[in-house]
Amino acid sequence: MGICGIIIVYALQSKQSKRGGLRMNAIYEKLMNCLAQVRKKTDFVPEVALVLGSGLGGYARNMEVACEIPYSEIEGFPVSTVPGHDGRYIFGFVGGVPMVAMKGRVHYYEGYPISDVVLPVRLMGLLGAKKLILTNAAGGIDLSFEPGDLMAIRDHIVSFVPSPLVGPNIEELGTRFPDMSRVYDPALAALIEEAAAEEGIPLKEGVYLQTTGPQFETPAEIKAFRRLGANAVGMSTAVEAVAARHMGLRVCGISCISNMAAGILDQPLTHAEVQETADRVADRFERLVSALIVKLGNMD
Ligand code: HPA
Repeated sequence: MGICGIIIVYALQSKQSKRGGLRMNAIYEKLMNCLAQVRKKTDFVPEVALVLGSGLGGYARNMEVACEIPYSEIEGFPVSTVPGHDGRYIFGFVGGVPMVAMKGRVHYYEGYPISDVVLPVRLMGLLGAKKLILTNAAGGIDLSFEPGDLMAIRDHIVSFVPSPLVGPNIEELGTRFPDMSRVYDPALAALIEEAAAEEGIPLKEGVYLQTTGPQFETPAEIKAFRRLGANAVGMSTAVEAVAARHMGLRVCGISCISNMAAGILDQPLTHAEVQETADRVADRFERLVSALIVKLGNMD
């Protein structure tokens, strides 16, 4: 081997450190490093983890907050490039249930590797969370939907986005070929329905399809996605659900239908419309999520 070969091999090896005689995967190493930094700041152990999508940015007002950690204080943690997105973990209680909320998430379209996109969710699992609630704003593909509807996610289509599990498998988290036949836990989905009924909130259900974004879809794409069985479309969530299932978390998800998807109405799509609708239904969305957290905390 020439000198170049030796340098390349050395560089590759130095991406992996040795601990306990086992080589650590670079992605896992970064995750453990982030975990150690969070654990220096708090010993809080959440039962439920919540990812706050558009419209739920103010959700912390429903929590008895114990501690907040800005993502920027965790070295190596992906920080959103979208202006005004002050990302942070918020630890606290809702109805006595210990939980952690992620205010702000990063998206694949921001240019992060897909492993960074799912790092925050994996970290919440390593902090102790057993159940994960994913939320988002989504375009309605189903013609019976209306902007402002809330949809319990029953399943997803994520084949258009790189899998977060590509690369050497992180054995410490889960198996190489994880089953995805029930990503969205039926028992948890039933609790979303129960919570909605008790709160008097109408609820739709359906299949969420994730695209990479950042461009909105074309009308032809939306027609194709409808034929594939999708009811709503968005640019997040499904990859996080895949990573969470890989490590054995129980997952559920709720989409706020913020707009009708491209080509359904005779008007262009804008981010402003997404934000406006999400803000309009924030109160309802927050009530549903709080009722759900209490139920998740009280289930076996
Ligand atoms: N398409 C993709 N992502 C979205 C949409 C949409 O129509 N609305 C909110 N997020």
